[in-house]
Amino acid sequence: MSLAFKFEEITARELKPELYELDGISRATIEAHYKLYEGYVNKRNEILARLAEVDRTKANQVYSDVRALKVDLTFAIGGIKNHEIYFEHLGGGGGDPKGLMGDLIERDFGSVQAWRTDLKATGMAGRGWAWTAYDWDEGRLFNYVGDAQNTYPIWNATPLIALDVYEHAYFLDYQTDRASYIDAFLNNLDWGVVNSWVDGYGIRP
Ligand SMILES: [Fe+2]
Repeated sequence: MSLAFKFEEITARELKPELYELDGISRATIEAHYKLYEGYVNKRNEILARLAEVDRTKANQVYSDVRALKVDLTFAIGGIKNHEIYFEHLGGGGGDPKGLMGDLIERDFGSVQAWRTDLKATGMAGRGWAWTAYDWDEGRLFNYVGDAQNTYPIWNATPLIALDVYEHAYFLDYQTDRASYIDAFLNNLDWGVVNSWVDGYGIRP
């Protein structure tokens, strides 16, 4: 039986050196994220390899295998994509967003302060992630909540900020004080990177 999809193994991206010198987020914490990230990359490859071997013409048991593998695949791919955004847009000086993202935030949230307050509340509320994403159908930014790597993204929206609020993101540095970790996250954002994504996607205020 021929493959129903193209499958190529992917490899974990290397971390940029700035990630080991963040202000208020330790090297040990970044290493904890990275270990998990590598695990998701391996898992994604493994699941696709297993899916390639499932004989889809055989009913019953096979359907539940397909279901389990495909659900797990969304978790692994979510863990990859979320962490790649996270790693890529940290290592900057934080502060207020300037340029395109600054204009979009002001337009869609009313002010930078309102965006920050809502993102922090979303990050405190969620079990896994908070994202500032651009919804192409509505033509605006919104802060979405995620309880896991694969919940709750929506179709046709592009994440521009990915705030990891899983316990491994803050427990080593802040114990239970998640709010202080979120402040540290914001202080290390690289707005130049975020603006290059906004520009590259063609999102305009
Ligand atoms: Fe993480």
